[in-house]
Amino acid sequence: MGDIPVIKAALLGAGTVGGGVYEILKRQKEEMPKKLGVFVEITKILVRDKGKKREGLDSALLTEDWKEISEDPKIQIVIELMGGIEPARTYILEALQAGKHVVTANKDLLADYGRELLDTAREHGCDLMFEAAVAGGIPIIRPLKQCLAANYITEVMGIVNGTTNYILTRMTQDKMEFSDALALAAELGYAEADPTADVEGYDAGRKVAIMASIAFNSRVTFADVFTEGITKITAADIAYADELNMVIKLLGVAKNGEDGIEAGVYPMLIPKEHPLASVQDAFNAVFVHGDAVDDAMFLGRGAGRFPTGSAVAGDIFEIVRNIQAGSTGRLGCTCYKNLCVKSADETSHRYFLRLQVEDRPGVLAGIASVFGNNNVSIAQVIQKNKRGELAELAVITEQVLERHFKDSLLVLGEMSMIKEISTILRVYA
Ligand code: NAP
Ligand code: HSE
Repeated sequence: MGDIPVIKAALLGAGTVGGGVYEILKRQKEEMPKKLGVFVEITKILVRDKGKKREGLDSALLTEDWKEISEDPKIQIVIELMGGIEPARTYILEALQAGKHVVTANKDLLADYGRELLDTAREHGCDLMFEAAVAGGIPIIRPLKQCLAANYITEVMGIVNGTTNYILTRMTQDKMEFSDALALAAELGYAEADPTADVEGYDAGRKVAIMASIAFNSRVTFADVFTEGITKITAADIAYADELNMVIKLLGVAKNGEDGIEAGVYPMLIPKEHPLASVQDAFNAVFVHGDAVDDAMFLGRGAGRFPTGSAVAGDIFEIVRNIQAGSTGRLGCTCYKNLCVKSADETSHRYFLRLQVEDRPGVLAGIASVFGNNNVSIAQVIQKNKRGELAELAVITEQVLERHFKDSLLVLGEMSMIKEISTILRVYA
């Protein structure tokens, strides 16, 4: 490496993303000194099991002992890619307390402990960067924190989970049922062995919490985010959506209005002409609305070894530049407001409701009066299929308060003329 200075870094984790980051830094070996004026050298890699076979990694760098990293004063950057809450939280806190800068892709940790980690980084004048924690390779954290910093952002909405977008794409394009599409997603390595966090919307919910905190300058945690997954979506719902010239997407939605922040993840019917409707397979996209920029959309791969590694490596380069310029800790927590987060009951949506009802006079009037009595205004009613003595009704409401809609459901659920409430979905407004 001749006379070019070296900045030493350690990887915590050498799995999908850790391995990707190691490889990207190797690929950038020639370019790095020209871009940064230094080499970034990985001098230690923490893993659970040193004995595991790992392609392309220098096994001499592996360690199972965190102290070898935390107590090495020459290591300036710690790159946490283990995942989970503990020991990741403790290791990041100890690294920051030792004056080391940290890069992490750990959305689970940031969505619950973001404030603690960022406060600790500030106390020690360190950088804590996490571009990869939301939407993998898509730049969204830095754009929100820096490029769009002069906006009053009112909405951040997007497809931020690749596994579920892949499943919904297969259900839409290949008319698959949920379980078959999930099995295919697992076969292709998109869905994890336990896909709960993806299909129940928890993974997307954590990303919404992180994005909302940054976009609205006020802390939102995972507990503040309402989550509903895609496990109840059927091929029949997808077919209905198609007839309405819509598609079903799992959306993460964060809005900042005069009465507070709302943050949620739910499957939603969106018009086919909406830009998010054409985001297919495992791709992610985030749509931002600011008072100055108007609408902006970010699209790309939300997961995977190299796309996620790209975001992590970008953060490493940014920290190196800050170290070189003596400006680390320059941009920490930006949550200087304390806005309230609304409960799901106080949010407003349009709803799509599919019902199996008795096919006789008065049924439609009965349903309409329940909605009317509960302040729910109906926008459209479709009666389509007949199954024996039953008719299928689809009702689309105007924009109504969620608690009013839920009150209506309680009454509808008790009516003998209604045999089944098959589907409830929100509709893009
Ligand atoms: P992974 O493939 O499961 O790799 C985890 C790595 O961490 C493994 O090398 C494992 O060691 C090591 N590790 C786990 N617990 C450890 C412990 N207690 N002590 C020491 N080492 C430990 O995970 P991944 O998919 O790379 O994900 C890493 C992080 O990136 C997570 O926070 C994830 O949410 C985030 N992320 C992932 C993606 C993606 O596409 N995969 C996208 C965005 C964000 P062994 O190898 O010895 O088991
Ligand atoms: N499991 C996530 C997804 C990738 O399917 O998008 C990691 O954030």
